Amino acid sequence: MSVSYMTHPLIKHKITLLRKTTTGTNEFRKLIEEIAMLMGYEALADLPTADIEVTTPIEKTVQPVINGKKLAVVPILRAGLGMVNGILALVPSAKVGHIGLYRDPETHLPHEYYCKLPETIDERQIVVVDPMLATGGSAVAAVDFIKARGGRKIKFMSVIAAPEGVSALMKAHPDIQLYVGCLDRCLNENAYICPGLGDAGDRIFGTQ
Ligand code: PRP
Ligand code: URA
Repeated sequence: MSVSYMTHPLIKHKITLLRKTTTGTNEFRKLIEEIAMLMGYEALADLPTADIEVTTPIEKTVQPVINGKKLAVVPILRAGLGMVNGILALVPSAKVGHIGLYRDPETHLPHEYYCKLPETIDERQIVVVDPMLATGGSAVAAVDFIKARGGRKIKFMSVIAAPEGVSALMKAHPDIQLYVGCLDRCLNENAYICPGLGDAGDRIFGTQ
């Protein structure tokens, strides 16, 4: 598995703002979406293009376009939903699947409650999005589900990751490409990322 860590100062700046306890729901949502767009720009740098003929005011020419219909964005519910519009801003014609997972508060293990993916998933470039990669349990389970339904070309984008999550995902799915906004120090006793940003789902949706 290849792991790319984001180095762009705009991404770093926005992740720092995201972490602050004083950042409210409205600003948090906006930042998550902007970070997803900036990370998406990096993660989609190898999207295939096809040449089409266009007519400029000067002449006819053959130029490249991407086929957005071949892209599937798959957020892990709930928090991944906050990243979807950032990717769709770049590729509006992408299809969107959903995987519902929550972590058991005691065991920290993921439980599936929903999974719906676009058709012909085996032919698509899939971008799984979830702001937090903590133990990696949810990410590994999500990629397991996608592969069980035929998905093959998989990129995974997380805004903040713990080393434990990166290792777990790398070990379980060495064939995927991982994009990480910032690699944090460690997990605490509740399997929260340190320094992290707290509970991403609660901060996006204003719940507790
Ligand atoms: C969070 C986060 C990830 C998961 C990461 O979701 O959005 O999906 O935890 O933790 P892991 O790497 O240890 O599995 P959560 O389970 O809190 O659900 P929510 O988004 O519905 O709040
Ligand atoms: N899920 C979150 O939302 N935050 C963490 O730090 C870990 C898991």
